[in-house]
Amino acid sequence: MELPFAESYKIKMVESLRRSSQSEREHWIKEAGYNLFNLKSDQVFVDLLTDSGTGAMSDRQWSEMMLGDESYAGASSYYKLKNAIAEITGFGYFLPTHQGRAAENVLFSAMISESDVIPGNAHFDTTKGHIEFRKATAIDCTIDEAFDTSLDHPFKGNLDLAKLEAVYQRYPLNRIPMVIITVTCNTSGGQPVSMQNIRDVSALSKRYGVKVVFDAARFAENAYFIKTREAGFESTSILDIVKEMFSYGDAMTMSSKKDAIVNMGGFIGFREEELFRKASVFNIMFEGFITYGGMSGRDMNALAQGLYEGTCFDYLETRIKQVAYLGSLLRDAGIPVQYPFGGHAIFVDAKRFLPQLPREQYVAQTLAVELYLEGGVRGVEIGTIMADRDPITRENRYPELEMVRLAIPRRTYTDNHMKYVAACLINVWNRRHNITKGYVITSEAPILRHFTVSLEKAK
Ligand code: F0G
Repeated sequence: MELPFAESYKIKMVESLRRSSQSEREHWIKEAGYNLFNLKSDQVFVDLLTDSGTGAMSDRQWSEMMLGDESYAGASSYYKLKNAIAEITGFGYFLPTHQGRAAENVLFSAMISESDVIPGNAHFDTTKGHIEFRKATAIDCTIDEAFDTSLDHPFKGNLDLAKLEAVYQRYPLNRIPMVIITVTCNTSGGQPVSMQNIRDVSALSKRYGVKVVFDAARFAENAYFIKTREAGFESTSILDIVKEMFSYGDAMTMSSKKDAIVNMGGFIGFREEELFRKASVFNIMFEGFITYGGMSGRDMNALAQGLYEGTCFDYLETRIKQVAYLGSLLRDAGIPVQYPFGGHAIFVDAKRFLPQLPREQYVAQTLAVELYLEGGVRGVEIGTIMADRDPITRENRYPELEMVRLAIPRRTYTDNHMKYVAACLINVWNRRHNITKGYVITSEAPILRHFTVSLEKAK
C-alpha cells in the first residue's frame, strides 16, 4: 500500500475552541455591524480571517525567544536576523520594522513622491493605501487570466509585460520609482509569479531604469510553486529558488507574519547602501533605531529561526497541501473557487456563488456573513468593500473579482477543521437561492474602510 501524506510536525501545545449556536452568532454579527473584523475571537470557531501573525511558532522559535538580546543598539539578535536575511534572500542591508505595512511606510517615504506611478501585480491593500496616501497611483498589470477563476493557469500572479511596458512608455520615467512584484499575489488569490516572469519583469524594468521591489510576504510559498510547477526547477532547492527570485530585485518589503511564521514583525531588504541609508532616517523616525526598528530582540530571534523553518520544503508541502485539501473539498462540491488553489488561502468566487445579488449590496461580504452564521467560520471579504472608493471621485470601485478569502493560519488547524469549514460552506451553497438581499454601508472610514466599516441588511 502506498503510504499517505502526513504532516511534517506534531503538536506540543493546544488552545481550546468553543462552538457557538446559530442564535448566538446572529446576535453577535448584528452587534458587530455585519463586519467580521468587529467580532471577538471567542465568537469564532474556525478563524480564517487571515494567515497573518496567526501561525503556531515551533519549539525552536520559542526557545529562541529566551535568547533574545534586548540591547537598544547592536543587539546580537539584530545580527542573528541580519545573517538569516542575507543568507536566505541575498539582501546585504536590512531594516527591521514592526510589520509589513511599516516596511512599506519607511521604504515608500524614501522612494515615492506625489503624482508618481507604481505598476505591479494587484498591489495589496496596505501597499495601495501607502501609495495613495502619498498622492501617487498604483497601476495593476496582472495578467488577464487571473480574473477568470475557473481558468487553469499555473502562475496567475504573473505581470503582463505588455501592460507594464505600456506604463513605462506612457509616463515619464522619473515618475516611476519602482515596480512592485508581490509574491505570492494575495489579491488575485494567493497566486504565484513564475521565475520566468520575474526575470522578464526585471529585464524590462532594467531597460527603462525602473527599480524592482518585491512585496515578499509569501515568498517561500511562491518558491514552492516554482519548484512544483515550473519546468526546470524540479530539483532546485527552495533556498536556491528564493535566492534567484530575489537576485532580480533592488529591495524587498516583508511582512514576517506570513512566511516567517511569527506573530509580529517585518523588515526591508536592500541591495544598495545608498537607499538603505536614505530609508534609515525614516526608520528611526517611524519605527525605532536601525538595529531594532519596532521589534524586540526576542522577536528578531524567533523571526530568524522562522525564516529557516518557513523555507523548508517539508514544511511548505504540509502547508500547501492543507490549503489544497480545503480547496478540493469545495471544488468537488461544485463551489466556484479560484483555481488553481493559492498558497495561503482558498478564494471563493462570490459573484458566481450569489449571482442574484447586485454588486451595490456587497456580494462577497454577504457570503462571508452567511458562512459565519452557518458555523462560526470567519473568512474575509476581498471585494468592493476592500477595494474602497476612488480617491478622486469617491465612487465605489468595483474590482474584477468579488471574493471571500479563507486564509489558513500556518501549523494551526487540522484537516478536520478544513472538513468542518467545507461542510459549512456547502450548506450555504445548498441554500444559496434563498439569499436574496445583501448589505448597505452605514458608516465608513475615508481610507482602508474594510477594517472598520458598519453595515446593515439591505431593505
Ligand atoms: N503585503 C501583502 C502581500 C500582504 O498580504 C500584507 C498583509 C502586507 C503586505 C502588509 O503586512 O499586515 O504585516 O502590515 N496581509 C494580511 C492579510 C493583513 O490578511 O493578507 P502587515
